Amino acid sequence: MTVIKSTRVLGVMLAATAIAMNAPLQAQVDSGTAVTLAADTQGSPEERAVTMLAQMTQDEKLSLLMGFFGTDFPPGGFEAPEEARYGSAGYVPGIARLGIPAQWQADAGIGVATQGGAQVKRARTALPSGLATAATWDRELAFAGGAMIGSEARADGFNVLLGGSVNLTREPRNGRNFEYAGEDPLLAGVMAGEQIAGVQSNDIISTSKHFAVNDQETDRGRSNSVLDEASMRMSDLLAFQIAHEIGDPGSVMCAYNRVNGPYSCEHPFLLTQVLRKEWGWPGYVMSDWGAVHSTADAANSGTDQESGYGLQRAANFAADKLRAALDAGETSQERIDLMVTRILRSMFSHGLIDNPVSADQLIDFAANRAVSQADAEGGIVLLKNDGNILPLAASARRIVLIGGHADKGVLSGGGSSQVYPDGENAVPGIEPTSWPGPVVYYPSSPLEELRALLPDARITYHDGVDHRRAAAAARNADLAIVFGTQWASESIDVPMHVEDDTLIESVAQSQPNTVVVLQTGGPVLMPWADKVPAIVEAWFPGRMGGAAIARVLTGAVNPSGHLPVTIPRSLAQLPHPGDPQPGDVNYTEGAAVGYKWFDAQGHDPLFPFGHGLSYTGFEYGNLTVTRAGDGLVATFTVTNSGEVAGADAAQVYVSGEGWEAPRRLGGFAKVELEPGETQLVSVALDPRLLAVWSTRENGWVRQSGSYQVSIGENSREIVETASIDLPASYLSAQWRPQ
Ligand code: BGC
Repeated sequence: MTVIKSTRVLGVMLAATAIAMNAPLQAQVDSGTAVTLAADTQGSPEERAVTMLAQMTQDEKLSLLMGFFGTDFPPGGFEAPEEARYGSAGYVPGIARLGIPAQWQADAGIGVATQGGAQVKRARTALPSGLATAATWDRELAFAGGAMIGSEARADGFNVLLGGSVNLTREPRNGRNFEYAGEDPLLAGVMAGEQIAGVQSNDIISTSKHFAVNDQETDRGRSNSVLDEASMRMSDLLAFQIAHEIGDPGSVMCAYNRVNGPYSCEHPFLLTQVLRKEWGWPGYVMSDWGAVHSTADAANSGTDQESGYGLQRAANFAADKLRAALDAGETSQERIDLMVTRILRSMFSHGLIDNPVSADQLIDFAANRAVSQADAEGGIVLLKNDGNILPLAASARRIVLIGGHADKGVLSGGGSSQVYPDGENAVPGIEPTSWPGPVVYYPSSPLEELRALLPDARITYHDGVDHRRAAAAARNADLAIVFGTQWASESIDVPMHVEDDTLIESVAQSQPNTVVVLQTGGPVLMPWADKVPAIVEAWFPGRMGGAAIARVLTGAVNPSGHLPVTIPRSLAQLPHPGDPQPGDVNYTEGAAVGYKWFDAQGHDPLFPFGHGLSYTGFEYGNLTVTRAGDGLVATFTVTNSGEVAGADAAQVYVSGEGWEAPRRLGGFAKVELEPGETQLVSVALDPRLLAVWSTRENGWVRQSGSYQVSIGENSREIVETASIDLPASYLSAQWRPQ
């Protein structure tokens, strides 16, 4: 308690220096020495950082290494520094004397969040979940979404967004899967990388997280992810590596969990060897909130900034602790200078100095909602459509919507990434109403949107609480649309089913024309799948989700989303059928995550990775594969063989000997086609996906031999395959695409 109070005093003292921000470029320090202000430094970001470092006092240096929680936290007796943005995740004081702005940090990946503890919530535009965006397989949508939320962050005066969430869906019950981008390292890396690039196009920093193998929430602060190095390199780390190559985030957030023993934020192998020495990434590592457990160990391992002091009582990077570590010779001045330089360098290279943020700027909410809606429409997956029951026929006169609060709005995911909508939570009061809640429904009603699109139909709503009455309502209609929801949130893992399966069964029994619309955080079991003709997976569809769902159901939008995760038939098919456990989490499946596990085991999933139907059809042909640089290029034609325009997620899979699984996603492209149109598509295949990681050689090793390159409707329905003989090759750990 005493420590927390003294921190508050420190925050206020640092803030008192904020007046000099508008001073002329040359300022005088007490000693009379002229200083160069940050904005006036010359050269590369590295050179500018070094110039600043040379002018800084030790107090100033240390002040950049510890961030405060940005929201009052009464249980810990903590009041956020006044200069923090209201209700935010974090704040690192600036150094006004040198023209270095504060770092104002906001969550996260679907928009500008407000912490649950804040009384007043900031209303901002929520994208669909990260998993929904991944389901678009559309790099442009991922970039546009990132650019949109980054612009709102900037307009609110935030210059560090804590979004760019890359953990793999290794555990389908992970309560944070909705924040991430699916089970495949290429898809997740590309989509998260594009989002990061979009965020940073606003001259602010984006943060890739949670580094690394933070793949369950159960016991997240202590659990130990056990995964052999080669498997890690080919799965979780590869996703981050690809995201970094595309997005170049200014910061990385080390995770809560341990990895093969050490905590993620005290992990020289992850933070120094891999991230810096091998990937050549020049940014700074911030900790997750309360994820630092030591001073010298964490600093020497590669963590540069401790986050969220006040939310957690630990203050391992407080100035007095760092000084003590220096005095004891446990860390060095060189290390402190390196940490400061990395932070400054990212601030220079990502525009924080040259294009500083200021709060309370105007936001074009109408334009931003359109971005969110396009993302949602691109990510909705039509899983099943027997007899082409969808799109809804104009002849369906009586339609009943059942359950899922579909009269009011659409579900969102909980935790620190929670974005609050304008107006009210459409369905307030659902438990839990506080952490890890509240459960928030965005006011975008599928019922109202459908009524607007089908003015001649009689569309009613039944809450589904009484199953018998719901079934009767379905019987008396021409068609029933039943909504299944799975709420998910940070800090918990969640059962793999919707609320509620028995309602869906009852409705399906009384109405053969039953469409199921799902809003889920991740993959769920669908025990009723054979009993309904149509299933639509809408994920957490964001602020405009009701409109997006209605437009897909009516055919105003032709669905083009494809699964970024495997939908199993049963828990028994998973590598770990039992619920996530605390302690050592042995990821014995290695790099065979998701579909790779299913393929390697010969399990038949309910819906495979990459699956997604359309209201039109696509045909592939003329596949050729050629060598290009270190990798390959697959070229093929895609033809829209149906009657309506549509977009296809063309998927290229690769196969080789001795891999963790029979096939890997090697590349993909989203292609929009008019009816009858054919396009020639070229997809570059990353050479790392044609190799395996060798710990002995510390690099990617490809054996000489025959490799297969296939185009598929999804990971299980391969349409055409070409073989190519390749010589042996070796790519070092430092290799990156040109
Ligand atoms: C989460 C991070 C988040 C941070 C700040 C942590 O609990 O794990 O993802 O950015 O809080 O809100």
